[in-house]
Amino acid sequence: MKFSITTTPPEKLRSDCVVVGVFESRHLSSAAARLDKQCGGLLSRLMEQDDMKGTIGETRLLHNVPHALCERIVLAGCGKRDGFGDAQYRKAITAAVNMLRDTGAREAVICLPELELKARDVAWKIRQAVLAAHNALYRFENHKSKKQAASKLHHITLATTERHKPADAVRALREGEAIAAGSSLARDLGNQPSNVCTPSYLAAQAKALQKAHKKIKVSVLEVKDMQRLGMGALLAVARGAKEPAKFITLEYHGAKKTDKPIVLVGKGVTFDSGGISIKPAANMDEMKYDMSGAGSVLGTLAACATLTLPLNVVGVIPATENMPSGDAVKPGDIVTSLSGQTIEILNTDAEGRLILCDALTYSERFKPDVVIDIATLTGACVIALGKHPSGLLGNHAPLVHDLIQAGETSGDRAWELPLWDEYQDQLKTNFADMSNVGGREGGTITAACFLARFTKKFHWAHLDIAGTAWHSGDKKGSTGRPVPLLMHYLLQRCQ
Ligand code: BES
Ligand code: MN
Ligand code: ZN
Repeated sequence: MKFSITTTPPEKLRSDCVVVGVFESRHLSSAAARLDKQCGGLLSRLMEQDDMKGTIGETRLLHNVPHALCERIVLAGCGKRDGFGDAQYRKAITAAVNMLRDTGAREAVICLPELELKARDVAWKIRQAVLAAHNALYRFENHKSKKQAASKLHHITLATTERHKPADAVRALREGEAIAAGSSLARDLGNQPSNVCTPSYLAAQAKALQKAHKKIKVSVLEVKDMQRLGMGALLAVARGAKEPAKFITLEYHGAKKTDKPIVLVGKGVTFDSGGISIKPAANMDEMKYDMSGAGSVLGTLAACATLTLPLNVVGVIPATENMPSGDAVKPGDIVTSLSGQTIEILNTDAEGRLILCDALTYSERFKPDVVIDIATLTGACVIALGKHPSGLLGNHAPLVHDLIQAGETSGDRAWELPLWDEYQDQLKTNFADMSNVGGREGGTITAACFLARFTKKFHWAHLDIAGTAWHSGDKKGSTGRPVPLLMHYLLQRCQ
């Protein structure tokens, strides 16, 4: 999809389709009012005849409106004017794009970015419009022998009335496109079945990014390298699998060599069967998305490189399957992590923290400014917070604050949970330095407490994306989150 920007007023647009907003109850936005005037009040009359009120997500398609220069007009409901906020803006764009997909229009102009939104500038509206449009048009049909008829729509123009700062709008458009592409990559990887998306496949994806972007350098450690280093926790998870584990590092250099990097660590369990502590059969297929943390790291690194951000960013991806077998790690087994701390593995299904702890220790070598890990880590997070925010815990308040802020701005939100010392007791065991599970209470927090024991040497935050990386139900599939959150955090750091 090609995107561009225009400041031409709606009545002068010779377009296949013009999308304008309508508020409840039948209050025209200024773009809608200008078109209405041009066609002698027809829009207002049609809305009444057709009983369109302007509720959020409502749409109407009008053809051959007399005196209009455009071929079609889409009226997009925006809800009540005084309740019009970030979420409504995104919803109206999503509904409009869903409608546009099937109209036969090859190109369309969306006038919604001219609507006023409290505390949001043109750049924000453009970025969000591009993201919402991309998200609505995304399809994953790699494995369907009959593809859905491709939409004719190939060009969306965003109309804004702000003539000043055109450079900001163009920059925002590029940012939106890069974030959308990164988030699509993450979605594709999450949707790929585990017989395609293996640890080797993730490594190949990283290599492909290296090939596409001069500023990305990739290295892949093999099992024997991990043995040499002493990654006993990661290797314990990898034991049961036939697919060889890979430890992938991507380094994006956009700033001076001496600038400390931001390190992103992504959980890359390409299939989580639970191992010997095997999961129940129902919905086990969904555990192909247990590499979504890794997918979001790849998507974010790609977007950084596309935008040539003036930062150094490192991606670290421990990638493996978690499988039962005669050679698999067993409950009660004790392993030594890369940090030297010993772990009694009481539940082989708590594997995410085992691969992450070695990746976190490994991150020390980059002398990081901050480390953020991203992981579909606990079912408990979905119970605690549902699927709207990612869970967020960390050892450095300013970093946690910045991530919450980036979540609010991007609409890809996170909510903090307490990382208090009191919870650490739940990881006590008689047989090793710690156990890998802390019982049913506060499962997301005890998982983070476990990771906290490996992050004492740097500023660190943890995003639990078990609830946000995946849609269940009829929209079943990967969401591409939290690429928008991470990218907004990084963009903020460039200011
Ligand atoms: N990958 C799962 C977490 C998960 C569950 C993600 C549901 C998305 C949806 C993780 O490896 C896991 O199995 N966690 C266990 C931890 C428990 C054994 C302490 C869980 O959440 O049940
Ligand atoms: Mn598990
Ligand atoms: Zn898992």
